[in-house]
Amino acid sequence: AVTRTFSIIKPDATRRNLTGAVTKMLEEAGLRVVASKRIQMTREQAEGFYGVHRERPFFNDLVEFMISGPVVVQVLEGEDAVTRNRDVMGATNPANAEPGTIRKELAESIEANTVHGSDSEENAKIEIDFFFKPEEIVG
Ligand code: CMP
Repeated sequence: AVTRTFSIIKPDATRRNLTGAVTKMLEEAGLRVVASKRIQMTREQAEGFYGVHRERPFFNDLVEFMISGPVVVQVLEGEDAVTRNRDVMGATNPANAEPGTIRKELAESIEANTVHGSDSEENAKIEIDFFFKPEEIVG
């Protein structure tokens, strides 16, 4: 079925002027950008968005990284969008990602890993709602 997922192009990518390169890889994987905006995340937004990781040892560094520069938040639409997006992103740690994936080709480290993507359709809905109003999404 055609579904939606949520994506973030992270500060390591915007810093290296890779917004277009990442988006091209998403599009070539069969995903369509139906909403997109470049934002500077606030600390409160980053802490809220990554709330499930609050107890993890990497949480504070992750928040600092996510507010270290602009990000591009996107809603992606396509056949089985969550899985399709996860496939093209590759493993969280670029060292473990398959060749041809965004993280293998572009990511710097497990933290500066270029993209975020929702891990389930349920979380995709929550994450989309966190950053977008319904009228900002044009399918
Ligand atoms: P993301 O998919 O955005 O979800 C949580 C993020 O935490 C992850 O990508 C990484 O950028 C970051 N992170 C940093 N260290 C780790 C780690 N050891 N395990 C998982 N995620 C990590």
